[in-house]
Amino acid sequence: MSITANWSYPTAIKMGAGRIGELAEHCKAVGMKKPILITDRGLASMEITKKALDILEAGGLGRAIFADVDPNPNEKNLEAGVKAFKDGGHDGVVAFGGGSGLDLGKCVAFMAGQTRPVWDFEDVGDWWTRASVEGIAPIIAVPTTAGTGSEVGRASVITNSVTETKKIIFHPKFLPAVTICDPELTVGMPKHITAGTGMDAFAHCLEAYSSPFYHPMSQGIALEGMRLVKEYLPRAYADGSDIEARTHMMSAAAMGAVAFQKGLGAIHSLSHPVGAIYHTHHGTTNAVVMPPVLRFNRPAVEERLAAAAAYLGISGGFDGFYDFVLELRSTLGIPDKLAELGVKTDRIDEMSKMAVADPSTGGNPVELTVEAAKELFEQCI
Ligand SMILES: [Fe+2]
Repeated sequence: MSITANWSYPTAIKMGAGRIGELAEHCKAVGMKKPILITDRGLASMEITKKALDILEAGGLGRAIFADVDPNPNEKNLEAGVKAFKDGGHDGVVAFGGGSGLDLGKCVAFMAGQTRPVWDFEDVGDWWTRASVEGIAPIIAVPTTAGTGSEVGRASVITNSVTETKKIIFHPKFLPAVTICDPELTVGMPKHITAGTGMDAFAHCLEAYSSPFYHPMSQGIALEGMRLVKEYLPRAYADGSDIEARTHMMSAAAMGAVAFQKGLGAIHSLSHPVGAIYHTHHGTTNAVVMPPVLRFNRPAVEERLAAAAAYLGISGGFDGFYDFVLELRSTLGIPDKLAELGVKTDRIDEMSKMAVADPSTGGNPVELTVEAAKELFEQCI
């Protein structure tokens, strides 16, 4: 079976090894003449980034780059990015990287057309309709990790650096016009990032699958996404140059993000405040809090996860699924407790309130109260 394909759901996805070579032609096809590549500081000096800039330059599109982007991008990064976009007279964004580069790149393209502050476009009710659509620049997304799924999403997570909260900024125009998923770009990822980002994809599929909302399409996508992670994440972790495994992980990441239209849950509710306060890796944090959240949700998801276990070829129903998660975490070298990531217990009260207020909380199959969140944080730390 060939693992190269063109998909149009939810956007045009160019999947397969070597397809970064098509970057300039896709930029031109969506009308860009002078794009700016937006990525994080860590990636700025890497070979894959230089190669992407070479491809743009060879296509007559220049080699502009903005990389003043923190691991959890905030409104200051955004402001600087919009300034670079406007000062350079750019007409499109190549959002390049893991979650940080993709989210900030998408948000810069969006904010280039706005006069209101970014917080006015938080994903609340119909706030997105406040946006002026004309000035929004086209986006080409190029993921360099396999986890966030931001490359197929209509939102960005931006941290408010004053309140230390992660806000979801939403608009349909955040959806990239074209996404290039080239697994060769993920080959150089450090092992712990392969593990953490892969577990983020798994968390997206698991939480979408467990959420109580009606969305059979996402349900099916989430289930197959979990299977891909089970089969291929240990392989990608063991041998980073396994292109077949890397390809399937890129698919799983995109599938997780498509699936979580159905909702996320308490894994993300707990992970967001921890990430905002302690700057921990998002996917790794999700993996650490996953077992306690599974135990908490058990009464509501026992049967459903037994069905998932059967599809994944795991025996033992819910317990088998739970043991599989523990085993997967240890195979990937994920710590067992948040304390190992530097998280302390002194801000549990505050984090518990933040967790309950998190937009992911509505999708959790068991109601998450402040008391329950405290109890969960105690178990996790
Ligand atoms: Fe996530």
